[in-house]
Amino acid sequence: MTTQRRPLIAGNWKMNAGNAEGRELANAVATGAARAKGADLVIAPPFTLLAKVSSDVRGSNVEVAGQNMHQAASGAFTGEISAEMLKDAGCSWVILGHSERRQYFGETDELVGAKTRAAFAAGLRPIVCVGETLAEREAGATLEVVLRQLDAVVADLAAHPSVGAVAYEPVWAIGTGKVASPEQAQEVHAAIRAHLAKTSKELADVTRLLYGGSVKPSNATELLGCADIDGALIGGASLSSEDFLEIAARAR
Ligand code: PGA
Repeated sequence: MTTQRRPLIAGNWKMNAGNAEGRELANAVATGAARAKGADLVIAPPFTLLAKVSSDVRGSNVEVAGQNMHQAASGAFTGEISAEMLKDAGCSWVILGHSERRQYFGETDELVGAKTRAAFAAGLRPIVCVGETLAEREAGATLEVVLRQLDAVVADLAAHPSVGAVAYEPVWAIGTGKVASPEQAQEVHAAIRAHLAKTSKELADVTRLLYGGSVKPSNATELLGCADIDGALIGGASLSSEDFLEIAARAR
């Protein structure tokens, strides 16, 4: 018997949106959220807007995520933000191991594992990102890379089934307009789920696997229709409330 996994649609604003623009966007998402009743909605504004946006969306079914966090609870880590600080600012989720963090900030699998443990320990729900580069795909190493990244967090995910989520984001599809085909995405999602099942059948059944990489209203129906795709992590298109909600409305 397969579990019904409620779709999860998350918007990663990245380093975009100042105060006025961000709050307008958050308010528009919260106001329009009724359109997407079939999905859980999460938005991840930059750190500077978390507290304001959290209060703007309070009372709606939109939750707020950090885009990153430090693995330590507190201390001398200039420029960093802890899990408790994210919670304090109104976050219930945090995106971890995004490929931009791995690529530009040197985040390793081990570090992403440590951050994931810290998030769970603080009661934050991690969305852990995995994905291969174009060179890795062309070398036939897609599953090897993705499952290795997953191995760094699988024990922690298994210790808190149904709390976290995993986002498969092929690096070559992020911000490039080159979306993975539904077949390519489904193949990796199925492999991720099968891999989770080796640790725990329950974990595999309940974990929501999001696809990310150039998701738009025009390709969302097909992607979200795949058996093992339970939602989306959306970058560029999440900066438009209209597009974000339109994608979410296609999730069933
Ligand atoms: P994109 O970004 O939708 O702009 O491709 C996705 C992501 O990086 O999460």
